[in-house]
Amino acid sequence: MKTAFALVPLILIGSAVAVVPFSNLNRTASIPFVQNRFIVEVENPSDIPGKRSLHSPTAHLFRSLEKRGVGFNVERTFNSPGIFVGASVSLSDPSDVSELINTPGVVAIRPVKIFQAPNPVKVHVVTGLDDPQIPPDSESTHILTGVDKLHAQGIFGAGINIGIIDTGIDYTHPALGGGFGPGYKVVGGYDFVGDAYNGSNSPVPDDDPLDQCNGHGTHVGGIIGADPDNMFNISGVAYESSLTSYRIFGCTGSTTDDIIVDALLRGFSDDLDILTLSLGEVDGWTEDTTSVVASRIAASGKVVTVAAGNDGAIGSWFTSGPSNGINVISVASSDNTVIMLQNATVQGVDYGGITYYDLFPLPIPGIWPIYATSNDTTIVDDACDALPDDTPDLSSFLTVVRRGTCTFVQKLTNIAAKGGNVALIYDNGNGFTAIDTGNFTNVTLIQAADGEFLVSQYVAGKNVSISFPQSGASTGYPDPSGGLISNYTSYGPTNDFHFKPAVTAPGGNILSTYPVPLGSFAVESGTSMATPFIAGSAALVLSVKGNSSAVGVDVRTLLETTAQTISSSHTDGDPLQTATQQGAGLVDVFTAIHSETLLSPGELILNDTAHYKGEQTFTVQNIANTTKSYTLDHFPAGTAISVTPGTIFPADGPVPLTSQYATVKLSESAFTLGPGETKNITANISPPAGVDASTFPVFSGYIQVTSNTERTHVSYLGLAASLKNIEVLDNTNYTLNITLPTLIDTTGNPQTAPTNYTFNGTDWPLGILRLSFGTVILRVDLVEANINFNGTLNTRALDQLNILDKNWFTFPRGNGSSFAQVAIVGPLLEEDLLPRNAAGDYSTIGFAPEFANGTDIPNGSYRILIRALKVTGDPSLEADFESWLSPIVGFNVSAGSVQQF
Ligand SMILES: *[C@@H]1O[C@H](CO)[C@@H](O)[C@H](O)[C@H]1NC(C)=O
Ligand SMILES: *[C@@H]1O[C@H](CO)[C@@H](O)[C@H](O)[C@H]1NC(C)=O
Ligand SMILES: *[C@@H]1O[C@H](CO)[C@@H](O)[C@H](O)[C@H]1NC(C)=O
Ligand SMILES: *[C@@H]1O[C@H](CO)[C@@H](O)[C@H](O)[C@H]1NC(C)=O
Ligand SMILES: *[C@@H]1O[C@H](CO)[C@@H](O)[C@H](O)[C@H]1NC(C)=O
Ligand SMILES: *[C@@H]1O[C@H](CO)[C@@H](O)[C@H](O)[C@H]1NC(C)=O
Ligand SMILES: *[C@@H]1O[C@H](CO)[C@@H](O)[C@H](O)[C@H]1NC(C)=O
Ligand SMILES: *[C@@H]1O[C@H](CO)[C@@H](O)[C@H](O)[C@H]1NC(C)=O
Repeated sequence: MKTAFALVPLILIGSAVAVVPFSNLNRTASIPFVQNRFIVEVENPSDIPGKRSLHSPTAHLFRSLEKRGVGFNVERTFNSPGIFVGASVSLSDPSDVSELINTPGVVAIRPVKIFQAPNPVKVHVVTGLDDPQIPPDSESTHILTGVDKLHAQGIFGAGINIGIIDTGIDYTHPALGGGFGPGYKVVGGYDFVGDAYNGSNSPVPDDDPLDQCNGHGTHVGGIIGADPDNMFNISGVAYESSLTSYRIFGCTGSTTDDIIVDALLRGFSDDLDILTLSLGEVDGWTEDTTSVVASRIAASGKVVTVAAGNDGAIGSWFTSGPSNGINVISVASSDNTVIMLQNATVQGVDYGGITYYDLFPLPIPGIWPIYATSNDTTIVDDACDALPDDTPDLSSFLTVVRRGTCTFVQKLTNIAAKGGNVALIYDNGNGFTAIDTGNFTNVTLIQAADGEFLVSQYVAGKNVSISFPQSGASTGYPDPSGGLISNYTSYGPTNDFHFKPAVTAPGGNILSTYPVPLGSFAVESGTSMATPFIAGSAALVLSVKGNSSAVGVDVRTLLETTAQTISSSHTDGDPLQTATQQGAGLVDVFTAIHSETLLSPGELILNDTAHYKGEQTFTVQNIANTTKSYTLDHFPAGTAISVTPGTIFPADGPVPLTSQYATVKLSESAFTLGPGETKNITANISPPAGVDASTFPVFSGYIQVTSNTERTHVSYLGLAASLKNIEVLDNTNYTLNITLPTLIDTTGNPQTAPTNYTFNGTDWPLGILRLSFGTVILRVDLVEANINFNGTLNTRALDQLNILDKNWFTFPRGNGSSFAQVAIVGPLLEEDLLPRNAAGDYSTIGFAPEFANGTDIPNGSYRILIRALKVTGDPSLEADFESWLSPIVGFNVSAGSVQQF
């Protein structure tokens, strides 16, 4: 009876659900894994003196497994000594994980994780022609970050090779060089997966990373490398650098982290200078495989830039791998200050341009008299019903209609019924944005005031008409949130208190290249767009300061210490945005390259109160040829109230900020440095007073070093609470209206009394739990029914519940008779380094009558013990776990009766 414990198929859960009318909750898994596939890291051959055998280190692993009769399939091997040596293997029997653990030379085993396709917050594909008059590098994003000034100095990143790990690239795009291979902009690359790969089928690799079906990587590529002579005259940050494209996503779907590791190692062995990844998966800790590999590559002197993630809505402590990699540059997004739109022209009355929400002009020739479907500019349901019989033939009119109540397509269908196919929809206060008009392409959104003006003129009987200039009418519309941190940027810090994200770049409303068959240009938003901006910025730094690993390891510090801090809002007096969302601030690449003052380190990490390092030092170096006078100042950022007061739940984003700030005492407040001189500064930083530790306030800020020519800063980050006090296992009924954790019996009800299970059909217990915070160890053991053990979490009144699936895998450390000093009958499951569940998400465990190592559980009465290690807890101390003991579970399996799941 080799059943795949922990791998309960959905269908069984589905039938259990059918027993009781559960409400309709989403089946979201907090962390997706590939079943039975693991990345095994083995010792570096060079680390083992005298052990340089003829066989590769992975061959040793495979032979050892074969000798023990373990059925496995090698998916990939990794051989980058000094970075990562190992393999990804699929096991025929998941319980053989213990055989992997017991193989000599194995240093780490991690489950293969699924990475969702990059999911930009906004994608807007554009078509048509535009104004060729835009002056060179008037791009708002380049102006915001000093890139325009570097371009004016002839600095374009020449000689630097950047690897883009993404969906591939459309190198046939004229702005991306129009070809592939030596001599072209895209000098090389590899397709690890093929068009049809979707994350669950087999990859079909080839040498050509062309992407003409997805587009994400082409947008990313243009932000780094687009040549300026295009219809929008946009240009990449470092458009003279070379690009190498590693394609790890197919046209649609996800990928797996062993493929990402393969691509990272390929970029390393291809000796690229910079690797950039606009992808990630929520993780919370710094130790998932992609984070570890990316971090080691970064430590070797390559620059690795990675998107922080677009999970800002979920609140603090929700960072992604591989941006969690300790040495990588995790990138936050800020909103562009300007959105490129078009103006229509008004005839018949004196009125300025009417700005409409399209990147390209509507392809409508001629001059159009207007017709209003309602004379009332406050009407809520304009044109939602069929237009009146006395409506004229609208085919020669531009119809003006108010937004609201029904869909745009509904209104346009009613207008089309009267012959109208050109229309302007004016806003009703919902916001000026791109709209979906279905197949009606001669329609666009205008602002409320413009629409109200047009209707008032119409009502007054004025002879007003509109035309759509086909060139010269591109206009920069100010983005209301422009310059602020994009609210979708994921918040840090990591659960092990690393400074993530590191820096910010423009990522909201970015115009860049798109595959030619998909429209050639598009506007997208996301930390995916900010990340290549930093990769390009790093290329500019390397091209000026020297393309060496010594400079490579300094790039993050240079960008951080010269960044510009950003407010939390446009309201005067509001605090600076927390460093857990903006990092060190918006990059200023010009200053990063030309600053004559160097600060190091860029990050002062104070940690939590239990591990507090309040005394920090940093150095200030004057690299100018003249003496400089410096002053030091403290600029606190808003303190992030990371947990909602009175609850155990991290607050949703936007995370509330307070103005209770840390106190900073500096060893100097003003000093002078001669040419080349260095000074050590000591900062004593105390957590803010008067904050409520149960809200886990994350405080942060900046110590600014000002000379007469420049401003630089170091960033600090601390927690005014002890992380060990944060609750890890949710023991409320908030999410499912039933107190968690719980076991669900075959009737779909929470088990309250001793219950026997036959493990036949649906007669098995289902565990439901929720992590309100990440944990390093989640451990489930079978214990004696009469165990003398008090769980830290009380079982409370039980209620109705809902079930969802999650594919758990077994990963127990040790199969002995005790774990963390508690006597156990045997381990059932262990998962390491889990992130917290997002609000509303939870996880389930399907139990089968066998231990984690695959041996049968003898019939009898037991309890199930669930334990989660508190953050910063010691795994050998029982007191450092939160625990929950189930009611008595009777295992009553008759021979041969067990369902083979
Ligand atoms: C389920 O997810 C969908 C899409 O994300 C969302 O629209 C819906 O509100 C969710 N339903 C519940 C009950 O959470
Ligand atoms: C971010 O801002 C947009 C536009 O104002 C809004 O629609 C969205 O809900 C906000 N998201 C978060 C996470 O606050
Ligand atoms: C577009 O119209 C707006 C509003 O009238 C005006 O401020 C702007 O200057 C116009 N832009 C161009 C390029 O005509
Ligand atoms: C857009 O308007 C033009 C001019 O009236 C017309 O020729 C064309 O068919 C319209 N397109 C659609 C999709 O209605
Ligand atoms: C647009 O037109 C296509 C082809 O005529 C049709 O299949 C599709 O349903 C239409 N879409 C909408 C939103 O009307
Ligand atoms: C709306 O105003 C126009 C122009 O003054 C007029 O011809 C029309 O009758 C008005 N419609 C209604 C319903 O009052
Ligand atoms: C913070 O302290 C914890 C507990 O000692 C440690 O595990 C973690 O690595 C520290 N974080 C940093 C960034 O030093
Ligand atoms: C400093 O002086 C040296 C020698 O005169 C010169 O080569 C260098 O460019 C100067 N550096 C700066 C930053 O002015």
